[in-house]
Amino acid sequence: SKAVTVPALLAMRQAGEKIAMLTCYDSSFAALMDRCGVDVLLVGDSLGNVCQGHSSTLPVTLADIAYHTACVARGNQTALLIADMPFGTYATPQAAFDNAVRLMQAGAQMVKIEGGEWLSETVRFLTDRAIPVCAHLGLTPQSVHQLGGFKVQGKTTEAADRLKSDALSLQVAGASMLVLEAIPSALGKEVTDKLTIPTIGIGAGPDCAGQVLVMHDMLGVFPGRKARFVKNFMEGETSIDAAVRAYIRAVKDKSFPGPEHCF
Ligand code: KIV
Ligand code: NA
Repeated sequence: SKAVTVPALLAMRQAGEKIAMLTCYDSSFAALMDRCGVDVLLVGDSLGNVCQGHSSTLPVTLADIAYHTACVARGNQTALLIADMPFGTYATPQAAFDNAVRLMQAGAQMVKIEGGEWLSETVRFLTDRAIPVCAHLGLTPQSVHQLGGFKVQGKTTEAADRLKSDALSLQVAGASMLVLEAIPSALGKEVTDKLTIPTIGIGAGPDCAGQVLVMHDMLGVFPGRKARFVKNFMEGETSIDAAVRAYIRAVKDKSFPGPEHCF
C-alpha cells in the first residue's frame, strides 16, 4: 500500500476518515502493525513505563528514543513514523532542533513535543528546518510533577480556554498534528472543530480526527492500573494480528472510543 505522509493525514482529516495510531517500540511489532494497516506509529516515551519499568517518562533519554526509532523504522514500510522528544530535550529551539535531527536520522518522519503556547517558537524553528511537528496538550506526562499526578485536564473554563488558545498557537506556528490526552470529550470536539490539522485523541472523546493507544495497553500486556481510556482489544480475539486489526476497524468505524472510555 501507499506510504502515509503528512499531507495524506491532512487529507484524511478533511475527508472525515479517522486516523488509527499506535505506539510501537520494536521492528517485529512495527512490521505487524504496518501489515494490519495502522496509519501512524509512535515511538512514545511511554517506553519508559512499558519497556523500562519506570513509573514516569522522565528517565527516558534521547539515545533510548533514537534506538527504538531505528528498530521500528526497520520493520515499518508505509505507516508514518513519529518519535517522542524526551523530557528536557527541547528546552530551547536550538536544542530541540539538534536533538530532533538525531531522531529524524534514526528514521522518524515527525517529532512530538509536550506543551502549549511557549513551544510555538520551537515549532516554527523546527518546521522552518524541515522537521514536521506533532504537538501534545492536555495530560502531558512529562509535566507530572507540576500537574500533581496523572489527572484529567481542561476541566475548568479557564483551563479549557487556555488549551484552545494553546492549540491554535501551535497550529499557527506550523504543527502538523496535535495529540490530546485525558480531557473532557466536549473540549476534544471543540479543539478539533477549531483546527484544520488532525487531532489525535487518547481519552479526548470520539470527535478527534484520530485515536492513539499504547500497544501494551491495547493488548492487555501492561501490568499497571488501566486508565479509563484504555480498551483491551485482545479480548475476544485469538491473535495479536486480529487485535490490532480490531483496533483499527473500531477507530475507523467510530465504535472506539465508547462513552465508557471518555471523560
Ligand atoms: O508516549 C506515548 O505513548 C504517548 C502517547 C500516549 C500519545 O505520548
Ligand atoms: Na509520550
